[in-house]
Formats: sequence, structure tokens, C-alpha cells
Amino acid sequence: MTRILHISDLHLEDGFPGVPWTSFANKRLMGLANLQLRRRRLFARASQKVDALADFVRDQSVDLVVCTGDYTALGTHAEIAYARRVIEPLTHAPLGFFTVPGNHDLYLEDTVRAGWFDDHFGEFLRTDLPECAVDGPWPQVRLPVDGLALIAVNSARPNPKPSFSNGRIPDAQLDALARILDDRRVRDRFIMIATHYAPRLESGRADRHHHGLENADAFLQISCAAQRGLILHGHVHWRYRVRVAESRLPLFCAGSTTHEGREGLWVFDVEEHRTVATPGRWDQSRYVLESDQASEIVG
Ligand SMILES: [Fe+2]
Repeated sequence: MTRILHISDLHLEDGFPGVPWTSFANKRLMGLANLQLRRRRLFARASQKVDALADFVRDQSVDLVVCTGDYTALGTHAEIAYARRVIEPLTHAPLGFFTVPGNHDLYLEDTVRAGWFDDHFGEFLRTDLPECAVDGPWPQVRLPVDGLALIAVNSARPNPKPSFSNGRIPDAQLDALARILDDRRVRDRFIMIATHYAPRLESGRADRHHHGLENADAFLQISCAAQRGLILHGHVHWRYRVRVAESRLPLFCAGSTTHEGREGLWVFDVEEHRTVATPGRWDQSRYVLESDQASEIVG
């Protein structure tokens, strides 16, 4: 059995030391105001919760950790460097750490141009099938044990318009995903596809245009090539699972693992012929599994 922990949307932040004021002469100014008025309070204990997650990884014998992005709030260099330091204890699970950036980690063009996320998280953005990568390291493929494949496509991008936080998986990555799902080294395994954006909400409906995944329909259609598996994502700060008619694979949203009052996570126990999904929550001092809510993924 392989035990996988899925977390997301940690939103770590400890001020902006060394960040020039010019970095806020854009959408970040609004984000900063929102942070100070509301958001900072919701994530005040985020770093303590990540420390507790490291205990959870050890106590629950987690083999591999998947994080579906949004480590930061405003994608500044200070935050990305801070987040990388905070998550360090999560990166030593026996089968490693697998991740994608969220929209907050690639907040504006300056973040992407400077390569801050790649500088600090690049060591995790590696693939076992480099010949399948078409867009930097994407899609990433990891084959950690027999019978299991992890695939990540990057749906996050800068969103300079103030009211927009939507995403898109570049077409080249989707085409590559289709080829990977048909690859003999991958296709017979249990397949976990990770991306930041929610292809569907808990209701089964698409997210609003300015907040959702633009090409969710195409992504779900391509995912149908996988015979067995699931889709992991974050972005929506509520933990849920949902089955939708558009894909054979169930969707699992970890929500935000650190958002005060909404802390969520999933644990997947992958065996040769069955996978069990168990939700987890924060109980004010540690993360706990809700074993009575565990369910088997069939198909
Ligand atoms: Fe997000």
C-alpha cells in the first residue's frame, strides 16, 4: 500500500522584507489591502499548521505528499522564499514531494519573469518522463511505485486584471497529457492527475468564469482516457469530492489546509486493486483523519 497526503492553498506569509514599494504599484496593492483587512487573520496560524502537518506525515506513515499550489499570498520573492522554508519538513516523505504552483505563486508577470517559484520550488518540478514534457517541466510525471502514476499539469498563470483569478492549462500540456495517458508505461497504473484549479465545484457545476479553469471541459474530456484514478486540485477553499458526468475520474479538492475554520486534506491509500480516500481536518492542535468518512474509489 502507498499512502499519499494531498494538501493545498497553504497561503504562507510573514511580511514583505526587502520587497520594493514598486512591487505594489499594481494589482498587489489591492491584494495587500485585502491581506491586511481580512486574509491575514484567516491564515495567522498557517505556519504552525504546516509544522503539525509534518507531525501528521510522520505519525500517519505518509509515503508521499502532494500540494496543489498557492503557497503564498501575493507571489513576492520574500513570500516564496519564506514558504519554501516553512514547508521543508513536508518534503522528506519516503517517496517525495509532488507539486504545482497556484495562481498566488505566479501572481503577476514580475514573479514569472524573475523565476522566483522555479528558483525555490524547482527541485520538486522534476519528471520521470522528460521526453513527455512540452512546456518547461510540464506535464510532470512521477512513477513512484509499481501501479501508480502521478501527473501534474500547470493551470496557474499571472492575472494582472484586478477582479480576475482564473486559470488555463496550456493546449500543448493538454495534448501531452493525452499522449501520457496512452503511454504503455503509464496507462495501466492508478493515475492521479494534479492541477491547481478546480475543474468543477462541489455542486458539479463549472466555477465562475473569472475564478475558474477556462478549459476545464477539455481537461475533463482528456482525463477520461485514464481507466482508473482521480483528479486532485485546490483553489476553492472548501474540502470536497465530487463525481461529474464529464469524467470517469472523481475530483478531490483539498480546499485550503490552513484556512481558519475550513482546514482540509485528503489521504489516499493506494493498493493494487483498490484505493481508499479518507478526509482529514484540523482539531485545533493537530490534523486528524475522519476515518468514518472514508470511501473506496471504484473504477
Ligand atoms: Fe488559487
